[in-house]
Amino acid sequence: MVSNIVIDSNLTSKAERWDQRFAAEPGSWFFGRTPSFMAQQVTALWNDLRPGETPTVLDLGCGEGRDAVWFARQGWPITAVDISIEGVKKTERLASEYGVTIAKLIHCDILRFLPTETYNIVFAGSSLHGLGEECMPCLSRLQEATPLGGLNAIRLMSTTAEGPEDVGHLYRVEPGELIAQYIGWRLLDTSENTVCILRTGRYHSFSELIAQKV
Ligand SMILES: C[S@@+](CC[C@H](N)C(=O)[O-])C[C@H]1O[C@@H](n2cnc3c(N)ncnc32)[C@H](O)[C@@H]1O
Repeated sequence: MVSNIVIDSNLTSKAERWDQRFAAEPGSWFFGRTPSFMAQQVTALWNDLRPGETPTVLDLGCGEGRDAVWFARQGWPITAVDISIEGVKKTERLASEYGVTIAKLIHCDILRFLPTETYNIVFAGSSLHGLGEECMPCLSRLQEATPLGGLNAIRLMSTTAEGPEDVGHLYRVEPGELIAQYIGWRLLDTSENTVCILRTGRYHSFSELIAQKV
């Protein structure tokens, strides 16, 4: 298989924690191999809204690839970005197991990723809050770069629950803050949910949204 991995060698220790998690058990996927509910949902919404059209998709913080591979399995050209080389390698492995190709698989900090094209679907599942204070400015840039009719699917950690032990470096939205960022867009789905992370016993909360630029 031809590798599409593009590597940015100028990465920081931000990647280390994810590298450790993703490398801990090479044969198993930290977040599983099943696509997230948000990925399945945005796929169904796109097919309803624009039947027969093939979207270009950007997955920011693709982790080990469960969603990027799902999008590739739809036959959609997907650009996937992650700061963890272990995540990128597992994404490529999962794609290979499904016999699909990630059009562009980029090992890079989201903040250094300079898109050369626009994407019909911008997808970021639990990744942008890792940017700290750069989270919302980055989201604004992504919104501006979304073409009319395009979708954003965004999941961010919120302040409702205690979150992980090391929350200090994260940008956690207040409940309602993510929706407020999308005033003027067509809101297709929003939720504020809390889950117990069984591995740690700690509660994490998330704001989630799928919206169409109109
Ligand atoms: C909670 S995981 C979610 C992974 C994936 N979206 C999923 O749901 O399976 C967060 C991911 O964001 C990536 N990430 C965090 N900060 C990043 C940054 N500045 N640039 C690129 N990726 C980043 C991590 O490496 C990790 O893979």
